[in-house]
Amino acid sequence: MNIKQISIVAIAVVTLTACSQVPSTQSAQTATDNGKPTMRQAFDGKFLLGAAVNVRQVKSTDPKVVNVIRDQFSALVPENCMKPEEIHPKKDLYDWRDADALVELAQKNGQVVTGHCLVWHSQLPYWFFKDDLGQQVTKEELISRMKEHITAVVSRYKGKIKGWDVVNEALLDNGELRPTQFYRIIGPEYIKMAFQFAHEADPDAELYYNDYGMDNPSKREGAIRIVRELKEVGCRIDGIGMQSHVAFDTNLDEYEKSIEAYAAEGVKVMVTELDLSVLPWPQGNYGAAVETNFEYMKEMNPYTDSLPAAKAQEQTDFFVKLFGIYLKHADVIDRVTFWGLTDADSWKNGWPMPGRTDYPLAIDRNYQPKPFVDAIIKLAMEEK
Ligand code: GLA
Repeated sequence: MNIKQISIVAIAVVTLTACSQVPSTQSAQTATDNGKPTMRQAFDGKFLLGAAVNVRQVKSTDPKVVNVIRDQFSALVPENCMKPEEIHPKKDLYDWRDADALVELAQKNGQVVTGHCLVWHSQLPYWFFKDDLGQQVTKEELISRMKEHITAVVSRYKGKIKGWDVVNEALLDNGELRPTQFYRIIGPEYIKMAFQFAHEADPDAELYYNDYGMDNPSKREGAIRIVRELKEVGCRIDGIGMQSHVAFDTNLDEYEKSIEAYAAEGVKVMVTELDLSVLPWPQGNYGAAVETNFEYMKEMNPYTDSLPAAKAQEQTDFFVKLFGIYLKHADVIDRVTFWGLTDADSWKNGWPMPGRTDYPLAIDRNYQPKPFVDAIIKLAMEEK
């Protein structure tokens, strides 16, 4: 048993202890009806296989939803309900209901939860940077608000959440720090502070830096700089999250170099937001900057009824290559999480152009695993 397998067993023990009240059938990794292994089973012992879930799915009693979440995935991440605008909508108001429900579901299913995300320039409530008069807050006030937010959220889920995306998307494509309000008001040290506050709130929680476009060499260097600077001052950092909103033209050689480079820094690699759009890009590949937007164009929405077999095959071929890389580096990759449960729910249907029909995920609109899932399960089983 290698160190990774030992830690997986340790996590299993912790999660099982946490859900010892629950009938064992609820957390069992059941095989599908046809007896083939699920993704959760196939990747067990390699890395966690996760999905980002929305609140509707968390609260659903529809067996199709309940079963696919439980059977196919060993890890969950909240798509939105732990982001500051949802969990901390007003300065003096936290709304824990949805996040609590997600954590409870994961415990019931014996799944590992990642908290997402503590500090990000997007989906932040308006009040965060404003004082009572609507003026920009001072540096001291913003540090205190950031600390209060991180402390409240992390300590509520102490012992229940394995790790946190502490800072999300702090880098520009050129590898320099993004001039967010946190950066402008506090300075570059906001990153170290955020990691320190999170560590103080739950010393046992793992802490991650998460970003998109991590196959880009400049961003790769930027992320490495963040890791080194955190370590230099003694801050805990356990892993780098490579969001992985990939496209058919993502350079997989560079992508793999990033996995290797992060591992060489002594941190774990998490694939945190995997999806592969099959739709044409309006102009080039824009990575995943949420602020990018185009007006609807019919010719950019070619597969409204179904995905043609040739496109589905292209997607399978791409995912087989990608999961080949993940399995090759399974000793450093801790988790691979799809950003969404089914094709119908993916943010890619609305970004970077609203109103399209995309097919970026592992589970189709009927809650069935897509053909590429069989292919990656086969790949994983061959390596067992
Ligand atoms: C980024 C964030 C995610 C999500 C996606 C778009 O990748 O990290 O939380 O918001 O954008 O949905």
